[in-house]
Amino acid sequence: MSENSRPKGTPRFPEGPTPDPTGSQFERRIRSFTPRRSRVTTAQGDALRRLWQVWGLDIDGKEVLDLPALFQQPGTPRPQASRPVVLEIGFGMGEATAQMAAADPDTDILAVDVHTPGQGNLLNLAERNGLTNVRVANGDAVVLLRDMLAPESLDGVRVYFPDPWPKARHNKRRLIQPEFLSLLAPRLKPGGLLHCATDWEPYAEHMMEVLSAHPDFENTRPDGEFAPRPDFRPLTRFEGQGLRKGHVVHDLLFRRAVTLTEHAEAGTGTAAASQDPLDPAGD
Ligand SMILES: C[S@@+](CC[C@H](N)C(=O)[O-])C[C@H]1O[C@@H](n2cnc3c(N)ncnc32)[C@H](O)[C@@H]1O
Repeated sequence: MSENSRPKGTPRFPEGPTPDPTGSQFERRIRSFTPRRSRVTTAQGDALRRLWQVWGLDIDGKEVLDLPALFQQPGTPRPQASRPVVLEIGFGMGEATAQMAAADPDTDILAVDVHTPGQGNLLNLAERNGLTNVRVANGDAVVLLRDMLAPESLDGVRVYFPDPWPKARHNKRRLIQPEFLSLLAPRLKPGGLLHCATDWEPYAEHMMEVLSAHPDFENTRPDGEFAPRPDFRPLTRFEGQGLRKGHVVHDLLFRRAVTLTEHAEAGTGTAAASQDPLDPAGD
């Protein structure tokens, strides 16, 4: 059925990702994205219909994920030893995600975005390249971290070219904020790597400021500076656009401290957690 002939109110992809899976448009909370309705190509739509039930995950905030079960191959026994899991927040069209998954098949990548065409694209890339170590999560990464990821369940977190929100009145929408880091730290294993990259100079400075000031993160660079781009990070789509505009790219590589401060431990949420560190007043 074409987009235009679909009756009003019927889901776009009945077997695919649920629009706004937590009903979060009703939560009064500052978000790092704005919902957008973008065109989905035939190939992306086809991938969403066929592959979502196998490799997709709606962030509905209902339960803490069993990550080994999520990454278990259908028809195979549950792996004996747990494999490393890296969370990628905001994968966009997923090309870099697919490249990293192919380059490191022993690491599982939980890739999250709200962008439907990108979800279809990444599913397509995973199928075409025989990648079994990628799962595509639909929804807000904040809800995923807050309600669905167990303490110390992640080996790493990647945030590549997050929306820069350049206007001063929108700066509060930037994902990398002290409260977000306090939510993230307990879900990372001790020593787990948080890797951020941006081509927006003021955001790079902001990231450096909040990460350096946060007691639960340590810069992997002894000089406290930005890191050279590590070999494992491919060029991303947004990075390419930034470079064409003459922007300079900054990478930040911080690791989680071995011992957390009390503040971060208090932020360790469960599915039933009532306090949102991004909304401590509950409004
Ligand atoms: C500027 S794009 C960068 C995409 C990709 N990493 C790249 O470099 O090409 C930022 C992406 O983050 C996603 N995003 C922003 N906030 C998010 C959130 N809270 N949860 C999930 N995805 C988010 C947006 O939908 C968008 O696709």
